[in-house]
Amino acid sequence: MAEPHQGGEVAPSYLPALRWKALTPVFDLVVRATTRERTSKRRLLDQANVSPGDRVLDVGAGTGTLAIALAKRCPGAGVTGLDADPAVLARARRKAAVAGVDVGLVEGFSTALPFPDASFDRVLSSLFFHHLSGTAKRQTVTEISRVLKPGGELHVADYGRPANGLMAALFLVVRAFDGYDVTADNARGALPELFVDGGLERAELSQQLATPLGTLALYRACKPSAATSALSSAPSSSTRAIQP
Ligand SMILES: C[S@@+](CC[C@H](N)C(=O)[O-])C[C@H]1O[C@@H](n2cnc3c(N)ncnc32)[C@H](O)[C@@H]1O
Repeated sequence: MAEPHQGGEVAPSYLPALRWKALTPVFDLVVRATTRERTSKRRLLDQANVSPGDRVLDVGAGTGTLAIALAKRCPGAGVTGLDADPAVLARARRKAAVAGVDVGLVEGFSTALPFPDASFDRVLSSLFFHHLSGTAKRQTVTEISRVLKPGGELHVADYGRPANGLMAALFLVVRAFDGYDVTADNARGALPELFVDGGLERAELSQQLATPLGTLALYRACKPSAATSALSSAPSSSTRAIQP
């Protein structure tokens, strides 16, 4: 998402957790009631299989529910949550303090992640990609690929291609609320394609979950390992220079 401002530059903007900032205080209640939150976030954490010592980034962390659950489950991991909205981050900080866990909470945009290259073993995100325009989705995947270590993994839970007509009808509520444009790639089940286009490999749909607002999909993808990258950047046998 981006909006023009004075001078013709384009400043990044974001779609707040429940579209309008005034609704942020009820975000946790709504997500709990409509997304089978416990099950979907538990399955995402199971899939991510984080180990002590791993550095993990939750992109679009919102009020911190996933990052806090991960910090409780794996206290030896270094967990950072990033979100563009200072109001949800304030809520996340309060929740982390109540839970007694140490989670780094950083304000920033997914399209320009404020972290060095190869900083994280895992990047997670939940209910986040359907908030981004097509361009922002692509920039975000490129950034995720940049900050993942070689061999690092991306694990995503978000609305996917509806599994049947009922799920398609229910998903129309989310699409009308958040926008048909930002949800279009999700509705096509196109996130794995975007992950590969952004430099990741082995992108796949791993699980689907029927929810009151449509099919929630779990995806995974990997950053190529150093060995794979070296192989793919080496000239192929047909073009390799012949040494004298
Ligand atoms: C629907 S909420 C999901 C929150 C949380 N991951 C969860 O599962 O409960 C989406 C979040 O993405 C954030 N967001 C939207 N666009 C963003 C961007 N470009 N960069 C960072 N955060 C963004 C919003 O502020 C919001 O908190």
